Amino acid sequence: MRGAARRRASGLWYLALALVATPVAAQTPSRGETVFHAAGCAACHTDVDHDGPPLAGGRALKTPFGTFYSPNITPDPVHGIGAWSDADFVRALRDGVAPDGRQYYPVFPYTSYTRMRREDMLALKRYLFSRKPVARQNRPHALPWYLSFRPLLRVWKWLYFEPGEFQPSAERSQRWNRGAYLVLALGHCAECHSPRNRFGAVERSLRFAGTREGPEGEAVPNITPDKQTGIGGWPRGDLAYFLQTGATPDGDYTGGAMAEVIDAGLSHLENDDLQAMAEYLRSLAPIRHRVAAPGKAQDKPPRNPWD
Ligand code: HEC
Ligand code: HEC
Repeated sequence: MRGAARRRASGLWYLALALVATPVAAQTPSRGETVFHAAGCAACHTDVDHDGPPLAGGRALKTPFGTFYSPNITPDPVHGIGAWSDADFVRALRDGVAPDGRQYYPVFPYTSYTRMRREDMLALKRYLFSRKPVARQNRPHALPWYLSFRPLLRVWKWLYFEPGEFQPSAERSQRWNRGAYLVLALGHCAECHSPRNRFGAVERSLRFAGTREGPEGEAVPNITPDKQTGIGGWPRGDLAYFLQTGATPDGDYTGGAMAEVIDAGLSHLENDDLQAMAEYLRSLAPIRHRVAAPGKAQDKPPRNPWD
């Protein structure tokens, strides 16, 4: 009798604790914020090298084709995207087309964001529009003249761009599908972790297999589960932990672009989402492809894409 009363009393105690703890639960990120962090919009759209204001653009992105400067995506109505409609925003992410019809360069990874669900795009827009507007003017890209002509991008898109939302696989678990969505549509992991052809398109047969010439000339490791050249040897559980903290199984911390992807983005995600991403990555076909040791940037001069 007394035991049951005590159990009931302690049940009440936990209930009281749970009620007190509710405000903490209310802080779980909104859907838009989760999309924002998983998609890594902050890193490219903030001029981190010069302590630029968040999302106000101006970050230099060096590529073999020239230097791109990210635009201002704060809700400032003149210099940012504050005057954009929902349809404008969806079209930019899904089709790579500006409100005035200009084609975007694929350095803006709409090639991956096109897989995003429309509800997630709209939640992301609401989140962006809740950020601080910054009146900072965009800086024009520094490109050779023959690449400044945007209508040419129509040809590029016709050859290499497959627009369309992520289609879940009915044969796979819900978790695997969540992981695939996070990696392919939001995380745009393949954009950095794959070699590109001379026209700057991801080489499909080596998707996720790493490249010696990643962003800023940095080597980007193979993240397929190949045992020798990829991450097939990582103990189970270490991958999700890495995505949250940047700590590798051998006790090192990741650097360069990946540290930014994690700090500004993935470290804010819920554990379930990180586990789902790890599950998806472990299910990829292993590809044997050796790239230079991570961290050993190869400072090659930018090559001319047309030769
Ligand atoms: C790898 C760097 C990179 C990432 C990641 C990135 N962007 Fe961009 N984004 C760019 C660049 C560069 C441009 C300019 C493209 C051009 O001029 O054709 C751009 C253009 C845009 C534009 C068009 C702005 C305008 O004034 O026309 C929007 C909107 C935008 N990005 C939103 C986002 C959102 C939202 C995310 C996250 C889901 C994101 N970007 C992630 C680099 C990036
Ligand atoms: C902006 C480019 C970029 C993006 C986007 C990116 N990575 Fe990375 N990633 C890197 C670089 C560069 C390294 C190597 C960092 C170093 O030298 O320590 C790396 C390292 C890694 C490693 C460690 C591999 C090893 O062998 O040490 C894993 C795992 C990884 N990334 C997974 C991911 C996943 C999953 C995503 C998508 C959510 C992702 N990356 C998105 C650039 C990127």
